[in-house]
Amino acid sequence: MNYLPKNLTFEEGVAFINGFSLIDISSEHGTPLYVYDWNHIENNISEFTNAFGEDTLYRYAAKAFICKKLVELLDKNKWGVDVVSGGEMATVLSSIDTLENTLFNGTYKTKEEVDFFISNNGGHISIDNLNEISLLQQIASKNKRKQSVILRINLDLGAETHPMVLTSGYDQQFGLSIDIADTALKEVYNSDSLLFSGIHVHIGSQIKDPERFKKAMEECSLFLEKNKASVEREIVFDAGGGFFSPYEGDENSQDLEAYSEAIKSGIEENWSSDYKIMIEPGRAVVNNAGLILYTAGAIKEDRGDKPYILVDGGMSDNPRPALYGSEHKLFNISGNKKEEEKVFAVSGRHCESGDLLVEEASLPTDTNPGDILMSTSTGAYTFAMASNYNRVPKAKVIGISSNEVFDLVKRQSFEDTLAQDS
Ligand SMILES: Cc1ncc(COP(=O)(O)O)c(C=O)c1O
Repeated sequence: MNYLPKNLTFEEGVAFINGFSLIDISSEHGTPLYVYDWNHIENNISEFTNAFGEDTLYRYAAKAFICKKLVELLDKNKWGVDVVSGGEMATVLSSIDTLENTLFNGTYKTKEEVDFFISNNGGHISIDNLNEISLLQQIASKNKRKQSVILRINLDLGAETHPMVLTSGYDQQFGLSIDIADTALKEVYNSDSLLFSGIHVHIGSQIKDPERFKKAMEECSLFLEKNKASVEREIVFDAGGGFFSPYEGDENSQDLEAYSEAIKSGIEENWSSDYKIMIEPGRAVVNNAGLILYTAGAIKEDRGDKPYILVDGGMSDNPRPALYGSEHKLFNISGNKKEEEKVFAVSGRHCESGDLLVEEASLPTDTNPGDILMSTSTGAYTFAMASNYNRVPKAKVIGISSNEVFDLVKRQSFEDTLAQDS
């Protein structure tokens, strides 16, 4: 069951992580509650580092999930962070006092964000469009810096993934199409304040087939080879994120070595000068290590062909099911339940008929109000996408390591939900 946290065990139906009972934890910390198996995240970081080598530049995609303690853990392992907003930058800066190993991505970078990044000695900026080149030049020059930049190329490769998480292809908003990438390269090359440092793609999420990375790197290296006159230094090939991470029912995750080999061979096919690989994994680092615990409320037996269980969270803590129909396997972890199961619809507490966490969840027939339900493969794009819809306070986030349970993000209070009101 590799979609589950590595250190998750069950004893008489009660779930434990590293020997800590999730039932006791839910009583102590309340629900909804995000829980991370911290050792599993550490393990994922080491597996990437072993597969891609110490020389690779790791830029964890903060968009999957970020908090200060995670930045510290990444930094301890010599990993940097891929950010797309001032808020993500501020999280990195306040945790480790530097943006040196940070990559700034995104389609819309505000002046304030660019200034914040450059004035704090930010690492690389990935250029998404021709428009932003003059903004970057102006702000780098004001800060008397020669800013390292990489060019994000949009290749028409797509990926075998859900259309909502597809991030390359000519019908997508991300990056520079290859036809105008050489114009961007020349502008950067001729700039006094920007330093051309590499090339970047992100071909989508949940990529199973390493050949797709290879193809992307072949195209990037061909492009650079064609424009070699504008390349003066060791170049970064940023292959993006999108490494496959299983949900319930998916086959085993891919071997990371296969991705690493594919990326290297794609580059070396057309590029013989020095280079460094950069990658931006997000989901594959945190998703399976994360869980959300809910308390079951009323159970409505009078609806349609299956009973509804109403839980104390929903689309404000995990918008993924409503946004793109993602399914998360649910367990009743209250202990001593019947083996016999039946199908329930599990609905969130929000005022949207689409707030269904799981349309068809098989749970013990004696599931009752007050039971604790555990939603799995919920470490990525859940807390990071959480909202205050219905002014519901955002839930707490905790980590569990081999010897302690610790807070990662505090639960919001009712007052926090109105703190910005005038
Ligand atoms: C540019 C970029 N890099 C990295 C990622 C992380 O992708 P994943 O979480 O699938 O690894 C994304 C996700 O959308 C992205 O847009």
